[in-house]
Amino acid sequence: MHSKGETPAATDAPNCTDLTIEEVKQELYNRHHPSLTFLDIEAHAKTVHRIRTLKQKHNVVMLGHNYMEPLVFGLSEKEEQGDSLGLSMYAAKTEAPYLIFNGVPFMAETAKILNPSKTVLVADKTAGCSLADNFGAEDVRELKSLYPGAPVMIYINSYADAKAESDICCTSANAAHIAKSMPGDTLIFVPDIFFAQNLEEELKDEKNVVYPGKDNTARGAVCEVHEKFTLDDLLGIRESFEIPKGHAHRKLYAHWECRPEVLKEADFYGSTSQIMKDIAARVAASNLERAFVASECELTSNLAQEFPEVQFWTACSVRCSHMAQVNLGKIANILEAIDRNECLDEYEITLSPETIDKARAPIERMLEASV
Ligand code: 13P
Ligand code: SF4
Repeated sequence: MHSKGETPAATDAPNCTDLTIEEVKQELYNRHHPSLTFLDIEAHAKTVHRIRTLKQKHNVVMLGHNYMEPLVFGLSEKEEQGDSLGLSMYAAKTEAPYLIFNGVPFMAETAKILNPSKTVLVADKTAGCSLADNFGAEDVRELKSLYPGAPVMIYINSYADAKAESDICCTSANAAHIAKSMPGDTLIFVPDIFFAQNLEEELKDEKNVVYPGKDNTARGAVCEVHEKFTLDDLLGIRESFEIPKGHAHRKLYAHWECRPEVLKEADFYGSTSQIMKDIAARVAASNLERAFVASECELTSNLAQEFPEVQFWTACSVRCSHMAQVNLGKIANILEAIDRNECLDEYEITLSPETIDKARAPIERMLEASV
């Protein structure tokens, strides 16, 4: 269930076509997307058309995290969409000169570290993440001094300076697998406290997982989005949407970053792509009629488009305000700047060669351990 993320096949020539604005509009209408209204399509078709034209003209790879809103998500070819692990793997292989990462900056940093000669661009360099923003290199050093000799496994939702202090990186798609492969009885996991507790439970017979706040006062963090789901919420969702536990065709999904009691209540938990993959497998087997996904709500929007046969219930208020900073207008600005050969500093991810060198090792160890 939690072995690894979706690994998109790397193709450096996205399959774009020379469509007119009217054809782009028609294509958007043809998606029959439940959350794309007439107004959305009429208002944004011109920008979508311009983005697609410039993307093709400049051979831009546009990676799209599963949390992107539908119009942004749809700018990425199927193989350019995915979870943190899949997108990192894609970024490592691409040969395109420009890589626009539709996600938050820690994700784009990973792409830059794995492919330093490429120009990696993000729509909004100020977009944060409650995990990455509240944890740094000094916090890793503190934990290392508390548990000398224990390896540090750092969640990909962190910045390069913190990764540079760690032994191995992981994503929600491979954390349990990688943790088991680490030497010794004790493993330090940072920075996500709920994720750590979930891992602790999953590995209870195999590893002593230590983390910020567990018998120490070290600083850790939680995802401000997944934190919102409580056990009471999940029980309420089960009752209101008639998704009883263990039902054969109705399922409640949760992301690893949710609270431990929420994960225990879920029928399935995993990374964003693992959740999508489980839904796809059930749909293929005509085995899913209704679902709720305890994660960022645009994931459900994208699922609803892909699997119209499933009735998805959603919590629209559970949105990642950081991911939502990425929008069509900002993406178009990057491409216009490329087109006019202007300075890209406002969008470009830059890291010192020393940081790239130090942070690459834990990420590459993760990729080696994931294949
Ligand atoms: P995934 O790696 O599952 O895509 O999750 C990233 C993330 O930020 C979840 O909140
Ligand atoms: Fe960070 Fe949570 Fe947003 Fe993911 S959903 S980017 S973990 S704040």
